[in-house]
Amino acid sequence: MTQTKVRLRRDAELAESEGSLRVSAPVGALGLRDLPPGAVAALGALAAGDVTEAGLTAAVVGGDGEAGLFRWNMLVRRLAGGGLLEYSVDGARLWPVGAGPLEPAAAPAPGTKVKLSRFAVATAEDGMLTVRSPRHASAVELAPRTAGILGALADWTTPAELAEALPGVPVEQVLRFFDAAGLLTRTPEDDDQSRAQWAPRDLWLHAHSRGPRVTGRYGGTYPLGSRFGPLPAAPPAFDGRRIPLVPPDMEIAAKSDPSLTEALERRRSVREHDAGSPITVGQLGDLLYRSMRRRNAFTSPDGQELVDRPYPSGGSVHELEVYPLVVSCEGVEPGLWHYDTAGHALERVAEPGPATQILVRRARASALLEADPQVLLVVTARFGRVMWKYETIAYSLVLKHVGVLYQTLYLVGTAMNLAVCGLGGGDAGDFAAASGLDYLTEGSVGELVLGSKR
Ligand SMILES: Cc1cc2nc3c(=O)[nH]c(=O)nc-3n(C[C@H](O)[C@H](O)[C@H](O)COP(=O)(O)O)c2cc1C
Repeated sequence: MTQTKVRLRRDAELAESEGSLRVSAPVGALGLRDLPPGAVAALGALAAGDVTEAGLTAAVVGGDGEAGLFRWNMLVRRLAGGGLLEYSVDGARLWPVGAGPLEPAAAPAPGTKVKLSRFAVATAEDGMLTVRSPRHASAVELAPRTAGILGALADWTTPAELAEALPGVPVEQVLRFFDAAGLLTRTPEDDDQSRAQWAPRDLWLHAHSRGPRVTGRYGGTYPLGSRFGPLPAAPPAFDGRRIPLVPPDMEIAAKSDPSLTEALERRRSVREHDAGSPITVGQLGDLLYRSMRRRNAFTSPDGQELVDRPYPSGGSVHELEVYPLVVSCEGVEPGLWHYDTAGHALERVAEPGPATQILVRRARASALLEADPQVLLVVTARFGRVMWKYETIAYSLVLKHVGVLYQTLYLVGTAMNLAVCGLGGGDAGDFAAASGLDYLTEGSVGELVLGSKR
């Protein structure tokens, strides 16, 4: 049988200071005092790379005698309990990605029915397949020669059947690794509503964006900080026509607006527009100014240019932009425009055509409109503004910001007596085609239909 080897987790370091040793990893550290020489040697072997239990025992006994083994075994338990060890067999490896204890599980009995979890995801990394379950803080790496076990686990099977079907694969150990990483199921995973309702993609986003322990890398870690610089607060200007907008008089607005309570109580999603008297450039400009203009910009100590707008934004990164797609607005030609939040102006992005029509048609269908909306406000995110700084939570932050902006547009729209209705779905591919923007750099993340109220 293939032997399981063990080593310190790949992101851990073993260091000596003032006579004591310390194992430290991004998720935690363990200080070790007064270790006898055999244990120190064995710890050094764990830090150097994969080592068998026999190799560790030899190091301990060589320095501390048989009597040293009890203490060593206690130490190994502490390292495993702190999630500081990774385990390997020929062609497979179990490693802690986040925080929490990790040890290979007991092997499933040869006749047990098992299957790969329907939530498991495999990604190709450095010539290996990394397989993960969304809620577990560990991963299993499979070499190509072992990876056939994934296909064999696509349907119910048993360890005995797997061993027969996959000669040369250390099935028992790989299944122990899979079990420890939450990748095996023994019962259907959709037989009750609480599990059936989750699609793998949704559970992944939820478990990771709400699970600091699952990833170990969570929040403002600057995942791209050492490789790329921060993006400027403003996107590159579009070089087409430009319509300067006149800022509203905020003192007049403050006096004539309904109270906050009134605006909240009056707010409705209004889908019908007044075709006889379409929204005007002044109203469109005022709505955007009051909801999302740049009020201020400043540089953070991390070098990123930050922004202040009327609605809040995690880290003040303000990655959202708005593209009014105009069908009928007095004073603005139909077509796709970008709102310049710093200069309070509209910039021409694209003439009306088949690509913009698809966006209008989709919005019309999702709001069940009888006519084209006067304006479709497409909300985009410049992903790099958030993803440069935030890890794991970046996309969920963007979605939170979309919600904050929606409500701000709803309330200002209510105060201005405009018809506003947020939409729940849209096609980022269609927006990329209409705008010419790179899908991965800046993409649509929300839409609202906007018009004059009947
Ligand atoms: C995030 C979000 C997505 C929405 N998606 C749609 C949509 O796709 N189509 C639609 O007609 N209304 C949509 N709405 C509007 C809701 O249907 C509306 O808020 C709900 O019916 C309650 O009505 P009220 O806004 O007048 O209170 C959405 C609202 C929000 C906040």
